[in-house]
Amino acid sequence: MVRMQCAHEGSVDYDLSGSGVPPPRLDEIIDTQDLLRELLSERQGYAPAGGSPALRSSIASIYSGAGPENIMVTNGATEANFVGAWRLLEKGDEIVVIVPNYLQTWNLATSWGVRVKPLQLREEAGWQFDLEEIKSVVTSNTKAVQLCNPNNPTGAALSDEHRKALLDAARETDAWVLCDEVYIGAEVDGVRTRSLWGTYERMLVTNGLCKAYGLPGLRVGWLVGEQETLKELTAYRDYLTLTHSTPSDYVARVVLERERREKILSQNQAFIREGFRNLLDWGRNRDPPFSWVSPRAGPMCFASYHSGEGSLDIATRLLKEKSVLVVPGVQLGMDGYLRIATGVPREYLHEGLSRLSDIIADG
Ligand SMILES: Cc1ncc(COP(=O)(O)O)c(C=O)c1O
Repeated sequence: MVRMQCAHEGSVDYDLSGSGVPPPRLDEIIDTQDLLRELLSERQGYAPAGGSPALRSSIASIYSGAGPENIMVTNGATEANFVGAWRLLEKGDEIVVIVPNYLQTWNLATSWGVRVKPLQLREEAGWQFDLEEIKSVVTSNTKAVQLCNPNNPTGAALSDEHRKALLDAARETDAWVLCDEVYIGAEVDGVRTRSLWGTYERMLVTNGLCKAYGLPGLRVGWLVGEQETLKELTAYRDYLTLTHSTPSDYVARVVLERERREKILSQNQAFIREGFRNLLDWGRNRDPPFSWVSPRAGPMCFASYHSGEGSLDIATRLLKEKSVLVVPGVQLGMDGYLRIATGVPREYLHEGLSRLSDIIADG
């Protein structure tokens, strides 16, 4: 998915493949005089492994019951996801991945010789998993369950009932839970999804500034876990990148000051709401050849179509014939769907959707 995006996102007429909000400039969210003074006077040594105490405290304040010792700062959520999976999984293990999903963990696990079992989210159930199925998929052989909540690409969040079923299944089998929460704070209705942190000892939560905060370029992510677990993960991380960037540590501290972070999140939520309204407006007086379940979070929708054509084929025709880029569902673990970005200007979205409709109708 990432390779296809990188190859085409700069050259297509309409790029609807993204999964984030437009990133702000730093001078739109921070007093840059102060920032510059601090940045220029800071010595550019290695940032403390795991994050500066101030940054870890700010991040910990987002999670009820967490302290700085429960936080490890990483290079983006990508590194957080990697380190957690790397520590936990070995060749011959088994992991359950809730799909569709951002497939980083799935693909890493496969490449390490780990057996991957899918647990399907079901569109007809509002993108929740089946409460019976989880009991048969998560077994005593399951080393870990990985999910993204709220979910990329569907935008759905686990209901209370499904959250409990997940935790029950993990407790019964002693499985770890790896939960990517980069979309918490990006809810369309502004109602914050509850983190899974604090619900179970074998829990590793990952997050970062990339999605809800709209600041992927800072490359700041983090893991939330038990102190002993994080100590082990730090040793693994020593072999990967040692630490994150010193300037980004400082900027992230400023970004995550309580009032500022809430303001950033609510601005991004307003943008996400507007994108979703634009999507609905476009569909209102038409009979589009695709449909979607309203996302709870994130600037995207996961649209189903019924032409029978593979999603990679549709996405490839759309790219070649109409210069529009979307993500084929098959790259997110579920064919027959397309992920469409809504975090773009209204006219841009509408034209991209119209071209997509033509392609599906021609199929
Ligand atoms: C669910 C999810 N996790 C992690 C990432 C990457 O995070 P980062 O940019 O912080 O490394 C993405 C990027 O699209 C994502 O969708």
